[in-house]
Amino acid sequence: MLQIITTINEIKQSIQNIKDNRLTIGFVPTMGALHEGHLNLIRQARKENDRVIVSIFVNPLQFGKNEDFKQYPRTFDKDCELLSMEGVDILFSPSATEMYPEGFCVSVIIEHLEDKLCGRLRQGHFRGVSIIVTKLFNIIKPDNAYFGQKDFQQTVIIKRLVADLNLDVNIKVHETIRDKDGLALSSRNLCLNKTERQEATCLYRSLTKAKSLVSAGTTNPEEIIHEMEKIINDCKTAKIDYISIVNPETLELVTNVNRGDVAVLAVKVGNIRLIDNMILMLLLTVQLLFLYF
Ligand code: PAJ
Repeated sequence: MLQIITTINEIKQSIQNIKDNRLTIGFVPTMGALHEGHLNLIRQARKENDRVIVSIFVNPLQFGKNEDFKQYPRTFDKDCELLSMEGVDILFSPSATEMYPEGFCVSVIIEHLEDKLCGRLRQGHFRGVSIIVTKLFNIIKPDNAYFGQKDFQQTVIIKRLVADLNLDVNIKVHETIRDKDGLALSSRNLCLNKTERQEATCLYRSLTKAKSLVSAGTTNPEEIIHEMEKIINDCKTAKIDYISIVNPETLELVTNVNRGDVAVLAVKVGNIRLIDNMILMLLLTVQLLFLYF
């Protein structure tokens, strides 16, 4: 049965019980409004651990002043039903004051990585993510924690955080779950109107274009980005925040596409900012030819 816990003291006791019984913990941090993307992570956690803990916390620290903290979808009762159906053991859903009591002032800075891509326009966003994830890891002490490839920069930053702070948790990243027409599932999709929802597929279409160009041998990122821009600019409701092709660990822009580099983009569709990414797989023969000449 799903146990719902809202205080740090109480969840620490439950964690202690689990640890005393030498059981493993799989943890999926979320902000709720759960969809198949979240559920896929939960199912992976269910397969690989004795106990599964999910958190729902709309973290105020990762939203900028003019961002959608207040409008962020909250569907708590439905979320609880889904978690019960998936056989989740514990839902941790603390209040903001429980996580950030008066006087709270510690920050986690991820040099070089937090100001790139989404971080350039969303100042402070990744500090907010890093502090809440660090706190949740310290409270829940999971053996394995599950994140989606959809938030690619977030996965890079969390892996770095865990490595640099020697945190005892395995980070598992799973593929992006998409709607039938390719749009990456996101809690924010609920806020799109009908036209915006239709046009929102431009993110996926531009990424598949990038992938096919690379498969056909194009390695010049400018050429690829130009083709991606054309697809997005064809949509009336879409406005590009950024499109980049980056190294998957450093997030540095690449000058020549190599196997495993990632195309990443953020696009505002109406008022809703959507992100997506795709790993670009250069055909090995093309790469060998490149090395040869
Ligand atoms: P949230 O957006 O709720 O996402 C929770 C987890 O689900 C993240 O790891 C995210 O990458 C993953 N996810 C979301 N949509 C997905 C999709 N379509 N396919 C696969 N995985 C998907 O990300 C956050 O919350 C927060 O930043 C959090 C890590 C909880 C810290 O507050």
